[in-house]
Order: sequence, then structure tokens, then C-alpha cells
Amino acid sequence: MVLQSSSQTLCAAKLSRHPAHARASGRCNHCVSKGGDRMKKWILAAGAAFMSITSAQAVTVVTADRMLDVTSGRYVDHPAILIGDDGRIRQVGNIASMQLPAGTKHIDLPGETLLPGLIDMHVHLNSLAEIGGYQGLKYTDAFWASVGPYNALKTIDAGFTTVRNVGSPDFDDVGLQQAIDGGWVVGPRIIPATYLLGATGGHCDDTNGLPPSIGDKQSPGIVTSPDQAREKVRWVHKYGAEVIKICATGGVFSLGDAVGAQQLDYDEMKAIADEAHMLGLKVAAHAHGDEGIRTAILAGIDTIEHASLASDATIQLAKQHGTWFDMDIYNDDYILATGTANGTEQQSLDKERMVGLKQRQTFQKAVRARVKMIFGTDAGVYPHGDNGKQFAKMVQWGMTPLQAIQAATLNASEALGRSDVGVLEPGRYGDIVAVRGDPLQNVALLEHVDAVVKGGKLVKGPGATQ
Ligand code: ARG
Repeated sequence: MVLQSSSQTLCAAKLSRHPAHARASGRCNHCVSKGGDRMKKWILAAGAAFMSITSAQAVTVVTADRMLDVTSGRYVDHPAILIGDDGRIRQVGNIASMQLPAGTKHIDLPGETLLPGLIDMHVHLNSLAEIGGYQGLKYTDAFWASVGPYNALKTIDAGFTTVRNVGSPDFDDVGLQQAIDGGWVVGPRIIPATYLLGATGGHCDDTNGLPPSIGDKQSPGIVTSPDQAREKVRWVHKYGAEVIKICATGGVFSLGDAVGAQQLDYDEMKAIADEAHMLGLKVAAHAHGDEGIRTAILAGIDTIEHASLASDATIQLAKQHGTWFDMDIYNDDYILATGTANGTEQQSLDKERMVGLKQRQTFQKAVRARVKMIFGTDAGVYPHGDNGKQFAKMVQWGMTPLQAIQAATLNASEALGRSDVGVLEPGRYGDIVAVRGDPLQNVALLEHVDAVVKGGKLVKGPGATQ
């Protein structure tokens, strides 16, 4: 057994030194050939006992006063969540009746209520709210990559342990994901979209608002036909995109386009959706205007971002198709209050005045119609770390606190197509946040989380070292 233990450690080390090889084959050939068949049988036979000895080293148990079961909406008193050395939950139960392996680390959070780590489905970790309009042109390209770790830390400290980063230049979000996953940077799990795909002169065209002599260098995400759209999906996927983000209509912050106007046609959106789905990726469509939202739903897009001007008929269509709405209803307040100081162009402020209130009214109607809803803030347009402020807005505009919490946990994991985050149950990552009080009575408690655990490691809270 001891021999086997060291052999397994060696294999693990080899795998981590050859990530590409390990990923391709799913195992380390050296370890297998050295073992042979008899050895493999022996390993299996010894399996259970062996696991309990080795795994004890990095097992963690998290305890608190109570835990919100986001699926049932009920509280569980005195929960104990046992998390293995792979960062995944092994058991959720009561500490008195739990068999704890020797050496188990205990994170005790007395007086606290536990919830699953929160998920923000719409962030831009390589953007800063404070730098608006043309101000961004003063900064060199690598600046945006450099601010990523700072924003990632603020985000996880706010309790968001998973984020979908729906657009960043230069594959910066993939780089940040690699740095976080490798342990060099502290931050949330990232689902990167990389470059945004969209029409020339549209919301996703980064050179909008510049003269042709400067702006004619085309943004890498521009698509001009269904064929090119397919090719761009393949290209961003090749370099790390795990979700595809498109711009189906004009936007608030893009210069020179009309906020509601459709910008990709049905064939382009359908080509993108089909190609992405073939590759196993979901598609998020930025869409404020009704016609663009409708077309995106019919084309098979998975999540509609903003959804500001969706008509009643389009709300029904979303419901029929099971399309998710991801509505950033907090940031209107921030944009209008700070826009001028941040350098936001007047045309963007005017556009915001056209959609802000309407978006909230649409949100209310969509909630009433029981459209599937997820939690996305567009942090980057407003300050990273303030993500939790949207919960209270969602309740103010028609959700129950439980619905708002489910949007950021259970629903978000479903919309991501991931069964490893969003719920505190065995098999999923041990991503946990703790608040003092009752978030079902006062959802604003989620604006200030006391502790954050990611994959069984304490990131924020008493005794955190990161
Ligand atoms: N990124 C979005 C855009 O530029 C932000 C919209 C913010 N406004 C709002 N009411 N949600 O269009």
C-alpha cells in the first residue's frame, strides 16, 4: 500500500508536468506501463482503503450555523460540508454523524449562513468602469490584461466563485483563467468568451467611433457572412473560448450605433449557434432591441444578455424556447450617476436613458411570465466587486429573494451546462460563501459576504491566507 501510494504520487506529478499530454490521453502512460495489468487489479482491490489514507491529507470540512439548500429553498441547521483534495464535495451532512478522516482541516464559521459560491453570468474582468468613452485609448494594450488579476480578486472576495467573462481582447480572459487555475492568481473560475463576434460597425466592433484611417484595421471578431461566422466560432474555440458571445443588436457603450437595432441577420446567428453547439459550447447574445432578441431566440441562442426592450410576444417566445434572460438591471443607476466623471460619451448616456427603466420593466414582466432567468451584472461597466448589489434590484423588480439567489446559483449552473458548480451537493466543487443573517429575508446581505471558500480552500474569512 505504501509503495502504491508513492507510485500514485509520482503519476500525479508527471501528469501535472505534462498538461497537454495528460489532457489528450486522460492519463500518464508512464504510470500505466510501469504498473501492468496485475498491478492495476491490485490497485482496484486496494482502492477503497487506500483512498481513505491518502485523501485524508487535504480533506476539509466546513461548518456553520445553517446552510441554504438553493434547490428546495429550505435551511439546513448545523451543516457540515466535507470537501476532498480534488476540491469537490464528498458529503453534506451533520458533523456529529460524519466520519472525518484523520488530519481533516476544519473551517468553522459560527453564526454564519452558508450558500453556494455565487455565479455572475456576465462580467468583463479586463474592463474598468472608471475608464469610459475615449479614455481607454490612452492605455496600452497590455494594460487590460494587467488589471485582470485585480478585478478577479475583487470578484471572488465579493463571493462570486464562478464568472462567465463575455468578451475580452487578445484572449486576455483565457490567460487569466490559466493563471487562476494554475494557482498564480486568486480569482473565480472563469468561462471565457474571448473575442466578441458581431457585425462591422456594430456593438462588438471595437474600432467604432474612430476615423477610417485608424479604424479600418478590422476587429478580429467581425463576421460578414454565415460562413465567416462559423469560421470565427472555430477560431475562438481553438484559442480557449468556452462560450461564444455575439452582438445581436446595438448597445449603449458602442459609439455610432442605435441601441435597439439588429446587427446580425438570422442566417449569421443560426450559423454561430449551430457551430457552437456542435462544438459543445453555449452562445450568449448581447441584445437590447426586440427584433434582435426575437431573431436570436429563433436562431437557437442560449442566453439573451440585457433583453431590455423585449415585447410581450418575445417574452412568450423565450419561454417557449427555454431561452435564458440575463438582465443587468443594477447598472443603470451607476452609469447615469458616474458616467460623466468616467468619461462616458454623451451619446451613451442618452442611449442609457432610453433603455434603463424599460429594461427593469421588461425584467418584471419576464419574471411574472416565468422566463428562465440568470444573474449577470456586466461588471466592468460598473465596478468589479459590487456584483452583489444586483440582488436587491432583482427583488425590487419582482423576484423573491430565493429566485434571485437561484438565478446566481442553480439556474446559472444549468445555463452554463455545468453540473460542478452552483449547488452544495456531492460531486460539485466546494465553492461556498457565508453571510451573517437570513438572505431570504434580506437579500442585500449578499452585498457583503464574510467568508468565501473555493474548492475547499478559504479565500476570504477568518484565517484566510490568500
Ligand atoms: N454593455 C451594455 C451596452 O453597452 C451595457 C448596458 C447597460 N445598461 C443597462 N441598462 N443594462 O449596451
